Amino acid sequence: MPTNPEETRGRAEKLKERIAENDCLYYVRDAPKIEDSEYDALLRELAAIEAEHPELLTADSPNARVRGEPRGEFVKAIHGEPMRSLDNALDVGELRSFYDRAAKSLGLSEISDTEWVCEPKLDGLAVSLIYRDGLLERAATRGDGAVGEDVTQNVRTIRSLPLRLARASCLDGVIEVRGEVCMSREDFAELNRSREESEAPLFANPRNAAAGSLRQLDHRVTASRKLKIFLYHLQNPALFGVGTQWEMLDWLAGRGFPTQRSRKLCRTVGEIEEYLVEWGDERFTNSVNTDGVVMKLNDVRLREELGSTAKAPRWAIAFKYPPEEKQTKVLDIMVSVGRTGALTPTAQFEPVRLSGTTVQRASLHNQDEIDRKDIRIGDVVWVHKAGEIIPEVLRVDLEARTGTQTPFLIPGACPVCGAAAVRLPGEAAIRCQNKSCPAQLQEEILHFVSRQCMDITGIGDKLAAQLTERGLVKSVADIYSLSPDDLTGLDRMAEKSSQKLVAAIGESKGRPLAAVINALGIRNVGKKTASDISKRFASMDALIAADEAALSSLDGVGPIVAASIRAFMEDGHNISTIDRLKEAGVNMTSGDTGSHDFSESSSSEVFAGRKFVFTGELSGLTRPEAERIAESLGAKTSGSVSKKTDVLVAGENAGGKYNKALLLGLEIWDEQTFMEKLKETGCGI
Ligand code: IVH
Repeated sequence: MPTNPEETRGRAEKLKERIAENDCLYYVRDAPKIEDSEYDALLRELAAIEAEHPELLTADSPNARVRGEPRGEFVKAIHGEPMRSLDNALDVGELRSFYDRAAKSLGLSEISDTEWVCEPKLDGLAVSLIYRDGLLERAATRGDGAVGEDVTQNVRTIRSLPLRLARASCLDGVIEVRGEVCMSREDFAELNRSREESEAPLFANPRNAAAGSLRQLDHRVTASRKLKIFLYHLQNPALFGVGTQWEMLDWLAGRGFPTQRSRKLCRTVGEIEEYLVEWGDERFTNSVNTDGVVMKLNDVRLREELGSTAKAPRWAIAFKYPPEEKQTKVLDIMVSVGRTGALTPTAQFEPVRLSGTTVQRASLHNQDEIDRKDIRIGDVVWVHKAGEIIPEVLRVDLEARTGTQTPFLIPGACPVCGAAAVRLPGEAAIRCQNKSCPAQLQEEILHFVSRQCMDITGIGDKLAAQLTERGLVKSVADIYSLSPDDLTGLDRMAEKSSQKLVAAIGESKGRPLAAVINALGIRNVGKKTASDISKRFASMDALIAADEAALSSLDGVGPIVAASIRAFMEDGHNISTIDRLKEAGVNMTSGDTGSHDFSESSSSEVFAGRKFVFTGELSGLTRPEAERIAESLGAKTSGSVSKKTDVLVAGENAGGKYNKALLLGLEIWDEQTFMEKLKETGCGI
């Protein structure tokens, strides 16, 4: 690290620039030039400088994407120029009349005298971004067009968005760009998968998921949602020497903004129609949903001539593709058993082409869903892909009922092991009650070895089935007793691959505590919660001993999750699995938590023996007073933040210490939290 302050500042600036360049290559251009490890080294070097010199942790630092405390409510954001929507053309006839009208208003006799740019219509949430002197200053939603909501904190967390513009020196002053925040179909499906697992309500489509994720009061939730953003508009383009829509898209891309690649310059309605057909097919290969095409007059001066109505510009129109709904026939309803024993019904139907792929099954989720839609075997049904990705039965064509269709009831016995399957009060799922059900065990194994858990490569569906069928694995802990001899001879397992797998199993013993907690498959505990928990508990033993109150005091752990962890830990079967994993040498401690252990977390232990730093202005008491109170409860206090600090209490206008604590990932309390903790100790404040 450079020692001279000027050099340090220069190095930090250089690092920020290089990271931003590589972010752009990775996220925007899809053409990374450096290895992940090299990129991580740049991030780490910058973080180290910023930890030593918190004043260098500026707003455009990649380490400051998730910044500040969550808001209590959204602040209003007034749009300088209203954010209008677009008029729609539902068919080519409407497109043609829009086109003719525009040409007439411009006084053109020949339609082909004008140029139009066709580009995908993104199915997301419109935002306006304001950059001042090259730095992102404000991000706002559309709202009612005149006034939206300030979502700056949330938008900052979108990794593909530049916080500082490339070639900023020539971009002094205010720039407003507009675009769309979206979620990719894959990230939407993944998000819904984990929500289904934790029985949280599902999002209907990627647009709702993007909107729900962006409009979070806690921007840390937004940060975990993998949002994407694409820009398509620059306000006052003439100020920047931009004369056409085509140049505008190039200008945006040149400043490091993500843009959609597909576009076409057209002169005739025929050419526009060709693009509608082309994009109609290609759109299913695009990572984010585009529900139509926007046609925009290319020349920005001519746009001014046409102007806008209160609602929409007269120089652009959106063509929307009709939603794809098709008919097919339900051939059968199959029931599968998941990791938690839930019996999930899946409709099998005659193959049907939907949103670019052939589909022949759709989950029916549970009995209530089957009853609500009254789906019977043999029914003709309307199907679509929710969010253009997840096949779904929309409704039954009742007119096609002939009386030969058979209603379906999920069986009261597990289709795999035959044990009783029961629907518990308050639950939607019917679950197999047999803890050693091979189907559940197989799913448990697959979860245990998955990338976000113990990350053991080499165990897939087929091998997991063989391991359970042959009784080689009766509990996930048995994975650690497998020898090459056990594996050699199994389907597709030669000596070499068996040895490789045993080595991979051995290597997995060192995974972090968060991965081990996630691997246990506790209901309602996914990757994020497991990671939050591991930051607060020094060991698995501490987690086992934690009561519901201690658990629900954690960020991101509500009463349902806390109860679910308790229920898991009270089950002897689970505790013996944990014991056996421990005996096998699986890591059960959190290396970076330090020594605090919340196992018997009575409130005063929240203070006793822990190092506190107070910063900023407290309103109810002075800083020395606060320090004395904490000390009286056994806390140690200090004036500076370091890795050894346990808690930073940050009042109003907290600055450098707060930033450093954020970087170090320390526990940070606001004044209210501090007062609440004091109250819990009964210290009489
Ligand atoms: S241009 C003044 N271009 O569609 C700029 N809008 O239904 C007017 N949208 O509110 C918008 N993709 O949120 C434009 N390529 C695109 C778009 C697009 C999606 C959205 C936008 C607008 C809505 C109208």
